Amino acid sequence: MSDPRHIAIIMDGNGRWAKARGLPRVAGHKAGVDTLRAIVRAAGDKGLEFLTLFAFSSENWTRPTSEVTELMGLLKLFIRRDLSKLHSQNVRVRIIGSREDLASDICSLLEEAETRTAANTGLTLVIAFNYGSRDELARGMRKIAEDVAAGRLKPEAITAEMIASKLDTDWIPDPDLIIRTSGEMRLSNFLLWQAAYSEFLFAPEYWPDFKPAHFYAAIDEYHKRVRRFGGLTTEELQDFSGDSDVVPLRHTAG
Ligand code: FPP
Repeated sequence: MSDPRHIAIIMDGNGRWAKARGLPRVAGHKAGVDTLRAIVRAAGDKGLEFLTLFAFSSENWTRPTSEVTELMGLLKLFIRRDLSKLHSQNVRVRIIGSREDLASDICSLLEEAETRTAANTGLTLVIAFNYGSRDELARGMRKIAEDVAAGRLKPEAITAEMIASKLDTDWIPDPDLIIRTSGEMRLSNFLLWQAAYSEFLFAPEYWPDFKPAHFYAAIDEYHKRVRRFGGLTTEELQDFSGDSDVVPLRHTAG
């Protein structure tokens, strides 16, 4: 199995990590930012191309206002404090998600992070902020519907590739590996379309306890997986070598 190009992470368990220590939830999120820094560094060291982190979902607005405010504050602090360092590490920062309901100071910071690091050629750090897959798909479908309604597009021209091109992730390869920490085993509205053939790894550690060693172990585990993309591997196809119409499916991500 070739190296993963794109790893996406659901950073879960900050609240439980804090509760287990008798601390307020925000202490868990703060510790989570430390983990985030360490994993970004580890991903860059590994030569990973894309790392997507689920930082704030479109459903996280339903949390108490104080927690939402604290999460917004942590994002602002992270960009203000870490942007220069990320830039010097050759990291390109990109944001996915809707910017519609975001405060103007957050939007400006997100734009600044993207613009300042746009020419960097190392790891691309994709921050999913105010992101939800269903919202992303709805926004994409709206664009397609507008084109159909205006007569610019025929319904029969709508393909899976076209839908993918209308998503926030149209410029990113699908995630090869999706990691969720804290032992929960669900996608929670994260990259639903893009995860069609992703490998999954559910780590028992709460996010603040997730160390670079766990990240490297996840990559090692990924290397043991056999990806078929709905077809068969080259080895499995050996059994059909007499059938001229059987074509091996690609089994690396692209
Ligand atoms: C899940 O833990 C984590 C989040 C909802 C947010 C993740 C945010 C950070 C790591 C920090 C802020 C982000 C940036 C980009 C600076 P949870 O609160 O759902 O934990 P629980 O399931 O144990 O309650």
